[in-house]
Formats: sequence, structure tokens, C-alpha cells
Amino acid sequence: MNIAVFGAGYVGLVTAVCLATQGNKVMVVEKDADKLQKLQGGRVTFYEPDVESLLDDAMASGKIAFTNDSAAAVASSELLFLCVGTPALPDGSADLSQVESVMKTILKNLQDLPARIESRGKLVVVKSTVPVGTADRLSRMAALHMHGLGNGSRIDIEVASNPEFLREGAAVHDFLFPDRIVIGVESERGERLLKTLYSSFECPVIVADTRTAEMIKYASNSFLATKISFINMVSDLCDKVQADVAQVAKGMGYDKRIGEQFLKAGIGFGGSCFPKDLQAFASVGRKHHVKVELLEQVIRINQDRPLKLLEKLKDALWVLKGKRLTVLGLTFKPNTDDVRDCPASHVIAGLLREQADVVAYDPVGIANFKAAYPDLSSRIRFADHAYEACERSDGIVLLTEWPSFKDLDWARVASRMDAPFLLDARHFLIEEKLENYGFVRG
Ligand code: UGA
Repeated sequence: MNIAVFGAGYVGLVTAVCLATQGNKVMVVEKDADKLQKLQGGRVTFYEPDVESLLDDAMASGKIAFTNDSAAAVASSELLFLCVGTPALPDGSADLSQVESVMKTILKNLQDLPARIESRGKLVVVKSTVPVGTADRLSRMAALHMHGLGNGSRIDIEVASNPEFLREGAAVHDFLFPDRIVIGVESERGERLLKTLYSSFECPVIVADTRTAEMIKYASNSFLATKISFINMVSDLCDKVQADVAQVAKGMGYDKRIGEQFLKAGIGFGGSCFPKDLQAFASVGRKHHVKVELLEQVIRINQDRPLKLLEKLKDALWVLKGKRLTVLGLTFKPNTDDVRDCPASHVIAGLLREQADVVAYDPVGIANFKAAYPDLSSRIRFADHAYEACERSDGIVLLTEWPSFKDLDWARVASRMDAPFLLDARHFLIEEKLENYGFVRG
């Protein structure tokens, strides 16, 4: 099928390369000139496993192209994927200006199309995470626009919702081997087009109206985040009564009704999705006068995680002022260079408030951290390697479970520290093993 993808961020680019590898012809429209130039040269602007190699393949087979020519993309494509950002506004609701702007561009370009192309019809597919009712709004925009053109009967344009369920760091896998595909449509034609697109995927396909599809996305992310905050609350209780939260999670997870995933206690969730989507979902609830205290509590528990960690640190190390403390891991999770809303930013801010001397290391996230948090970055040091970051340290705080941290020679780390203290905020390292090297656990 001929597909246009608007927006070459994480979701857009992963969608584009994966659809291209399925044999579709994909044209990616990107406004940012610098990003566009890099992509045209086959370079990916963020760290995500497998994307670059799939991009190479797709470029070699001529299945993908990058452009700023939205008119050409609209003219040649039957499916128009909308993959732009929906960042949070100050009140927590989603900023839909980029979504609206792409839709305007699509509609404007449709004006200029020759009738023979218009008559084939267009399906606008919203992949961006958007509040319930967004597809309806876009449909209304389209209807108004067609009315304005006075040739509404010729242009057949429909808006569908097809939310993504891609984890950063595993996005290509999640796209190619999904647990389910959700198709939100208002017509048989829309359903047929999207079912054809995904015909080679072996997973359940849920066909619903667009509002239900939009709801599935927010509800899924909010539920996963709720599991995390729940186990973090249990973790605080475990600390008080000397129980082992990892074992508790394991014991719960074997119950199929609960499931083992997203029960890892620790520093809490970050990134560009959960914090923003929860706020937006709660804001939708408040708008419709539905009580959303449950979601608000999930958000609050998460926001408290860095503070609880600081309390633990002070409890263990007493005075933090002047102590050299090492932060291992800056990205919000491993296998990504994404530092948006990362727990490390909150922890480092807290350590600086205590006037600690902070040294940080991350395998791939340092450049993005410096760009995203210039004030914090100017007040800490960055090391080129984990060993260097731990040199003469009074304590390590591990914030991201990068696999390479497991492979460190921890005996060597301990021997170079002033005091071998470690707080593993991800319950990731084998703590008994560390104790053998003289580490004291946080
Ligand atoms: C999440 C969802 O998992 C995807 O399905 C969804 O498509 C995506 O948001 C999105 O809306 O675009 P992502 O944010 O990339 O994906 O990463 P997750 O693996 O879900 O982790 C989110 C955060 O929760 C991370 O900070 C992670 O460290 C934390 N987490 C996860 C925990 O603290 N404990 C857990 O048990 C699991």
C-alpha cells in the first residue's frame, strides 16, 4: 500500500520502517530541516535498537523516502499516518496543536489534487496518543473543509484511530510482534484498509469506533502505570516491615490474573509516555466530571519516588553535603537515549539541593541529558566510564538497569571507592553477590 507518515519521531520512524519492511511504499514527511537531512542520509536521530538497520534495508529497496513535500505525500498515499507529538500543556491536558496543524496541511493539499486522485479517497490514521474525541474533531475539520471547498462529494476522507503500543528500547519488536492491533474506524472501508495493511500480523485485531480505540490506549498506559505505583507503595511497606518486595512481586505475578510484568518496584516510571498520558487521562476525567483520584494517586506516588530515595540515602549516609555520590544511569529506562522526565533528573536535583558532589555516567544518555537539563548538568560532572564515575565515591545510586552495569567488575568498583555503599533503585543487581565485595546496600 502507499503510505504517508507525518512526523519522524520515535513513533513515526518506527512505524515507517516497519511498514516499509512489510512491502509497503512509505513516504515520511518531516518539517525539521536538520532531522530531514540526516534521515535522507540514512541516519537515525535517536537511539533505538534495530531501527537503523531496517532503515538501511528499506532505503536500499526503495520502499522508504523522506521529504518535506507534504503535497506529494498526500497525492501518492491512500493511508496518511499522523505521528506527531502531543506534549503536555501546563494544566496536564494534551497539546493537540501539531495534530491539528498536520490535518490542516492534509486538507489544504487535498484542495489541489486532481479529481482522479481524490476519488480514490484518503484514510487519515491517528497514531499519536490523543484524548478521546480527537478523531471526531478531525472528521469535523474535514467535513467543514470539504464544505468550504464546495466539492465535498468528490473528496472521500475518513479519520481512523490506530494507537501504538511501542516500548522505547523494544519498539521494532513491539511493532512487528504486537500483543494486539487496535483499529478504530467509522466505516467498512476504513476497517478494510487497515485490516489489509495488517493482514500478515498474527495477533488479535480489535475493531471498534474511534473513541473506544482512543480510550484503549490511555487506559492501557494508565493501568500499567498503576501497577508500577502499586508495587512501589508495597515496596515502601516492605521496607518498614523488612519484607523483600522482589519476592512479593514474584509471588503475586505467578497469579495469571495479576501477571508478572510491570511489578518491578524502584525509582518509578518516567519517559515521554506514562507521566504525560496519565496527566492527560486524568484531565479528560476531570473535564467530564468523573472522579479520577485513583489516577491522581498513581501520579503522586510516582512523583514521590525520588524524594523517598533521598530519604533512604540520608538515612544510610547521614550528611550528604560534600559527599561524592555517583549516579549510574540517566535515561528513563535502558536501551534508549531518551531522558525525558527521567527519574535521574529529579534525583540529581535533590542531591544538588543537599550540596552533594555528583558524578554521573550513562552508556548513551549523557548528550541528551546535557541538552535537556543544562542547569543541572552545569553543576555536576560526567564520567566517560562507569569505573571512572565510581572512583573515590562515597556512594553509588543505580537508576537505570543498563545490562552493561551487571557486567561491571564490582570488586574493582568497590576497591576504588572511599566507601562501598550502593543503592540499587531498580532491584537489578544481584545484591548478595555485591555484599561479598564489601558493598553495603541502601
Ligand atoms: C510505554 C508503554 O509500555 C507502551 O506500550 C506505550 O506504547 C508507550 O508507553 C507509549 O505510550 O508510547 P515506554 O514509556 O517506552 O512505553 O516504556 P515502558 O517499558 O512502558 O516503561 C515506562 C517506565 O516505567 C520506565 O521508566 C520504566 O523504567 C518504568 N517501569 C516499568 C517500572 O518502574 N517498573 C516496571 O515494572 C516496568
